[in-house]
Amino acid sequence: MKIYENNGVFVLETQNTHYAMAVDCEGVINHLHWGKPCKIDDYKSVYKPWERNSNHSARDCCKTEYLPYCGSVYRPVAFVAKHGDGCRETVLTYDSHKISEGEDYILLEIELSDKPYSLAVTLCYKLRENTDVIERYTKIKNKSDSAVLLSKIASGEFNLPSKRPYLSTNTNGSWGGEFRIEKTEVKNGTLLYDSRKGGSDHTLNPWFILSQNADEKQGDVYFGALAWSGNFKVEINRDFAGVTRAVIGINDFDFSYNLRPGEEFITPSVYCGYAVGYGGMSNQMNAYAVENILPKRFAKEPLPVLYNSWEATFFDVSSESQQKIAEIAADIGCELFVMDDGWFGQRKDDWAGLGDWYVNKDKFPEGLKPLIDKVKSLGMRFGLWFEPEMVNPDSDLYRAHPEWTYHYKTRKASLLRQQLVLNLTRDDVKEFVFGVMDKMLAEYDISYIKWDMNRAYSETGAENLENPQELWYRHTAAVYEIADRLKAKYPDLQIECCASGGGRADLGAMSHFSMLLTSDNTDPVDRLEIQHGFSLLYPIKCMRAWVTDTNRYSRKNDFDFRFNVTMQGSLSIGGNLTKYSEEELEIHRKYITLYKEIRNTVQFGAFYRLANYAEDRIYATQYVLGSESVIFLCTSVNSFFNDKFYHIFFEGLDSEGTYKLTYDDKEEIYGGAYLMNVGLDFEIGGTLRSKIIRLKRI
Ligand code: DGJ
Repeated sequence: MKIYENNGVFVLETQNTHYAMAVDCEGVINHLHWGKPCKIDDYKSVYKPWERNSNHSARDCCKTEYLPYCGSVYRPVAFVAKHGDGCRETVLTYDSHKISEGEDYILLEIELSDKPYSLAVTLCYKLRENTDVIERYTKIKNKSDSAVLLSKIASGEFNLPSKRPYLSTNTNGSWGGEFRIEKTEVKNGTLLYDSRKGGSDHTLNPWFILSQNADEKQGDVYFGALAWSGNFKVEINRDFAGVTRAVIGINDFDFSYNLRPGEEFITPSVYCGYAVGYGGMSNQMNAYAVENILPKRFAKEPLPVLYNSWEATFFDVSSESQQKIAEIAADIGCELFVMDDGWFGQRKDDWAGLGDWYVNKDKFPEGLKPLIDKVKSLGMRFGLWFEPEMVNPDSDLYRAHPEWTYHYKTRKASLLRQQLVLNLTRDDVKEFVFGVMDKMLAEYDISYIKWDMNRAYSETGAENLENPQELWYRHTAAVYEIADRLKAKYPDLQIECCASGGGRADLGAMSHFSMLLTSDNTDPVDRLEIQHGFSLLYPIKCMRAWVTDTNRYSRKNDFDFRFNVTMQGSLSIGGNLTKYSEEELEIHRKYITLYKEIRNTVQFGAFYRLANYAEDRIYATQYVLGSESVIFLCTSVNSFFNDKFYHIFFEGLDSEGTYKLTYDDKEEIYGGAYLMNVGLDFEIGGTLRSKIIRLKRI
């Protein structure tokens, strides 16, 4: 990695790519190139933007690195502000730049400013060794003595090289159906992906993936994923001349931020890169996130096999019933026992109790200690569910503090799941939320919190704020702040992020929480699709996946299939173990033991998708770590009609090495080059079949 600067031309050199830009004759930073590298000296200095005609201005047509709303500009911009004197335009020109080094990165900061207003906007690009991923963010500093109202502050603007239309990949998800991939050709005009719900939501993802002629192994793929769990906006615009640009950042919907004199605002980061093939993209981001995005304390440790009580007992938890399940969970090999919803306040169902974070005495007459002692004596750690941002109207908290929710005095509050959203932008509410979890952690031996969030915001009045439109930003920032404070006070605490499943499954959540739930949907067939979409840009390790009793399509008791799907992420168990036969429990024991053998490879290995379900009717994933590799093959419905075999070309092996393959009680020996270049047939045809193949270099 290296950063070159010569006469106003900047080139970021990553492992395999260049990202180049230059100051133009008007002091604006223009984009020059992103993609495969060339000779550094060939990047020419500044060019003069040229006007097409009076209807297509020069600035509107050129490739800007960070376009503010100003002058004759009509396409999606990255930045909008209103200055102290009422001027609503911003002109950003080059002032200075700085290249600095951190422990594991080099950072280029290009400072631009709007001279009459002493407003500094710094474009930041962080490069790390052995990757093509660039971390990009923007700092905005008010150096004047009057406030500036920011109403759009994207993290970055990205220009793509080709004038041919790109294919955009995002998701068309829903609750229970997150990460379902949808591809759209980027035609002229603007394609919009966003969330206005408060969280990053189940539907669309805060990313852009723009490709040409791409499949898993080839073609140009440009991507950028925003590390932000609140409202986001991705605008992909293709202009009349065929230039495609993406602007990505915090959503400007109902948003503004009053930047006071002397104050600095730092946007969330966007992790972007150019890759060859979707596989190249996923493989890079999978490794990069573990290395650089996940909280350091647990990033390199394999996640424990957890048991979660939700689908087994729902709200009907008690010390006795949980202890019974815990005994079996420990016996089959679980390492962490998480008690989900139902343990607090007057929580019998979802109508009451949220906000009252004290132990329910009817269900736990002696508090949680007997249960936790039992769980610990069984050799497991203990985890507890919270939904700290919410309150039920039927709760002591709401009766005492109705003013603690977002609300308008003149509007009826919309209840979703019978609950309201607490106004986390208030310091007293923030302290309360931190305080209730802190108290439980101080009193009990809890090493894991599942932080849930089950509704979108509404009636977002926040009278405490001078500028209530800051709430969208401040709420998410408060969630991160509380999670960070808890981790700082309890360094061994792991926190799982959940928002009705995958409503906050983004890189921002992953940078503050240790892992996440990608969906409430635990059906193994649906999971294949959800997991596939998640794996595009997010790290496999973070993906909690549960084996449960939900099994809409597969054969009754087909635990082999359920495990083979679920072991492709961080294995978790969630069925009602008290109802299982000894034979079923034995299957659980077998697979949990197996997972413990392969989990380092799954959670930390290089990741490959070996098939494309839409064309191949099979999900096939491979993980390679050192001398070990694991392959999962799963078919869904009517996979190959009458053909029984699928041909696998393995990936990521040592071509000089010799490997022992183990599958279906068979053992075979092949060379790495043979497995990758010639490949092997596996009998997998049919509906809902699955297979695990293990490879060891000998
Ligand atoms: C939604 C979560 O996604 C579930 O796993 C569970 O925790 C419930 N909430 C509890 O209310």
